[in-house]
Amino acid sequence: MSTLTTSTAWLSLQDHQPVMAKQDLRELFAQDSQRFKNFSLKFNDILMDYSKHPINQNTINLLLTLARQQGLEKKISEMFCGRRVNFSEDRAALHFALRREDALIIDGVDIMPEVHDVLTKMERFTSSIRNGERKGYSGKAFTDIVSIGIGGSNLGPVMVTEALNPYSASHISSHFISNIDGTQLSTILKKLDPETTLFIIASKTFTTQETMANAHSARKWFLAQGGCEKDVQNHFVAVSTNRMEVEKFGINADNIFKFWDWVGGRYSLWSAIGLPIALSIGMENFYLLLKGAREIDQHFIDAPMERNLPVILGLIGIWQINFFGAKSHAVLPYDQSLHRFPAYLQQLEMESSGKRIDRNGNEVDYSTGAVVWGEPGTNGQHAFYQLLHQGTQIIPADFLIPCISHNPVGDQHRLLIANFIAQTEAMMRGKRKTEVCEEYEVELPKKSAIEDSFKKTIPHKVFPGGRPTTSILFKKLDPKTLGSLIALYEHKVFVQSVIWNTNPFDQWGVELGKQLAGKILGELDNKIQITSHDSSTNGLINYFKENR
Ligand code: F6P
Repeated sequence: MSTLTTSTAWLSLQDHQPVMAKQDLRELFAQDSQRFKNFSLKFNDILMDYSKHPINQNTINLLLTLARQQGLEKKISEMFCGRRVNFSEDRAALHFALRREDALIIDGVDIMPEVHDVLTKMERFTSSIRNGERKGYSGKAFTDIVSIGIGGSNLGPVMVTEALNPYSASHISSHFISNIDGTQLSTILKKLDPETTLFIIASKTFTTQETMANAHSARKWFLAQGGCEKDVQNHFVAVSTNRMEVEKFGINADNIFKFWDWVGGRYSLWSAIGLPIALSIGMENFYLLLKGAREIDQHFIDAPMERNLPVILGLIGIWQINFFGAKSHAVLPYDQSLHRFPAYLQQLEMESSGKRIDRNGNEVDYSTGAVVWGEPGTNGQHAFYQLLHQGTQIIPADFLIPCISHNPVGDQHRLLIANFIAQTEAMMRGKRKTEVCEEYEVELPKKSAIEDSFKKTIPHKVFPGGRPTTSILFKKLDPKTLGSLIALYEHKVFVQSVIWNTNPFDQWGVELGKQLAGKILGELDNKIQITSHDSSTNGLINYFKENR
């Protein structure tokens, strides 16, 4: 048994769980008129309501005791002091420095001047593209930006660019290529004019198979469509920590935007990996995005734990995962422009928290990261909410919505808000058998053919309720608020890793598949029957070779 699951704080929560599991959430609201006030927090324009979870003040106190026992406050300050919190790779995790203003001394050196130099370089570059000063090889201004990258070098930039679409320049179109499947690349390139297309090759390592294959194909396309070798310099820029590989690709130092190995891929949108965002929304807005995140950083450091949004969000997740057995977590943005937010959080949470070994190298005896998934509302309501309301699994969900829409078309936003609030109420309240009957104005038991057929439907119309949700409302989806929301989730992930004693900054689990793909790649090129794997793997390879 681990020290975590045998600890007093953990055992107290375990004892407390059956008490809360028995409680009807409706009753908890009925008993306490201040429940919303007691279990919601505000930060700037953001309201986080976690009152629709099976919690009472004792639950929160016990969760905070667990956090203290795990040394959360110390761990937060260690990360912000630049300690090597990424212990399995022996390095610091300094993504917060990318949005910082003050000096940050690491190993005796202030790293902030370099961070600000890159931002200044991004600023110059961004304005030269946006104002048409930097031109393509035929003298025309750039109109299309194609960003090639995958994982953290794609998901953050796509998500933010889409989310902040109302702030984007109308004369610049952004495109993203991540998948190794040639479909994405060919579909996008088909629409573009090489004379006015700028490529950003974004890869921390500059060795990622998908990104490099796509980058080479893009370059080939550019040369085949009329560009010359010398024009590559003007039409291709790179964002990477690996200068040597970038130069080998043929991009010179002036066109390289550097970042550092202390930024994890999924934490990198604040760095030059965010260049596509800056090109789309302009550097002033990019700085506001950083500001929003910086403000949450400060709140995370300063606010008492019971009033600290990332701490509470993280601990509510722990309560659901470790004590109520939740295996999955839905992210439901009621804002179409946040349609990539669930995919972004999927990488942030699942690459960070999908761990089974603790910091001492021991296998954990408790659950860690949940499966994160989601779709924007109201689309999801007509697809998978059935399972959320009446399925056998209890899936905690985060609902997010702006109070003000960027696109106030007709009555749509009011309808959206009503649906958002109604869904969280329905999940909490459910519908009891008596209510189903009342609704049909039928009193049971009565006898008639109609009532018999009605009676049969009753169990299907009952909603158990008690389905936990967190609601996050904010005034408007602007760059600063989005920055705060993203940083809120980054720190939530950190909080959970401290409780679980795991490393949220490594991702060794992605390596094995990459290695094996390398071996299999070599086996696809000849006609020889493959027998060196298990029969399934051999069978798949051989079927492909026969049917290619
Ligand atoms: O395969 C996972 C991963 O290593 C992610 O962690 C990372 O964000 C992504 O690949 C892309 O890596 P790179 O930026 O080095 O191309």
